[in-house]
Amino acid sequence: MVANLYLAPRKEKISWPFLKAFICANSLKIFAKQILEWYASHKRELPWRDSADPYKIWLSEIILQQTRVAQGLPYYHSFVDAFPTVNALAIAPVDQVLRLWQGLGYYSRARNLHACANQVVSEYGGKFPDSAKLLQGLIGIGPYTSSAIASIAFNEQVPVVDGNVYRLLSRLFDDPTDISSSSAYKHFFNKALELIPADQPGEFNQAMMEFGATHCTPKNPECRSCIFNTQCKAYANDTVSKRPIKLKKVKVTNRFLNYFLFEFDDRILVNQRTGKDIWQGLHDFYCIEGNLSQEELLSRLAKEVGNDVVKACVIESQSAGIKHVLTHQRLTAKFFRLSLTDRSVYEKLAENHQLLDLPQGELKNLAKPILIENYLKSGVMSLF
Ligand code: ADE
Repeated sequence: MVANLYLAPRKEKISWPFLKAFICANSLKIFAKQILEWYASHKRELPWRDSADPYKIWLSEIILQQTRVAQGLPYYHSFVDAFPTVNALAIAPVDQVLRLWQGLGYYSRARNLHACANQVVSEYGGKFPDSAKLLQGLIGIGPYTSSAIASIAFNEQVPVVDGNVYRLLSRLFDDPTDISSSSAYKHFFNKALELIPADQPGEFNQAMMEFGATHCTPKNPECRSCIFNTQCKAYANDTVSKRPIKLKKVKVTNRFLNYFLFEFDDRILVNQRTGKDIWQGLHDFYCIEGNLSQEELLSRLAKEVGNDVVKACVIESQSAGIKHVLTHQRLTAKFFRLSLTDRSVYEKLAENHQLLDLPQGELKNLAKPILIENYLKSGVMSLF
């Protein structure tokens, strides 16, 4: 009898964990491919997207931390026009930087922008360092900005995790991690690290942010037409409106600012803000803070600036309470225009309270909080 030499192919046993890991790795790759394709056909044409210049990318990212793309665009153009290079920004007076930043809020960002430009010039000869790690050594550059610059300008495979990315990932994986917790950043960074492709990390990061900003929106996202609706776990579990979870609410305090505009002829006394409070470095006016009655206010004023000053003042006008909302503060401001009848009292007031004595026409060139700008623009002062 002839031996049957035919050997049936041995069936390799593929373990379930191996298969699962294989399917998973593939679906992660498919996700990256899908979002990159979506980005290629849906992205907004933005000036910094034509460029791999780390200076322009840095500038755009710092501005976009403060505002949305549409509102940030004019600021980006003004900055690039005024300071085409990091060297130009570094040598500019910080007041000019603050003036251009006016209206974006968080003025420490503008001061950091200027300080960072100086650091790039002094420590790196005007060239941004090319890794996320080194970028984080620069003033005002944290994990988010360093990842954005390193991936977009230098192709480093490092994920960007901003508010849009938190939302997209927490929905995609129906992830209940509290994004206001201290461990959230690392958690979502690691999730994004599994998704980010080696060959197009910058495009991928921008695609994630763009998809979060324009499609996977905080309210009423268009899930039915979403390209990820078969993979999105929150959609399957009907938890889209509950993701991301954010437990820590912003604590908002109320503040009452009473501004006194001391005027003499066409001159005015201006205060430049110092200290750790809001609007550091910006210009406003002599201020008494508190929710005070007219009487209380007048007696506080007399106590602070002296009776002789109050007696030499004529009230020109007084505004109603003007509301202004910041991230952590709800402000109500009142403005009192007081014209002084005595030059020497006016001059002494400026000296005693370190106020700048300026022609009213110069107010327009100063960096001011938007609350002040709006008040002046309301037509109270003919020279503004
Ligand atoms: N938000 C902040 N940076 C962004 C970017 N580069 N693309 C889209 N949205 C953003």
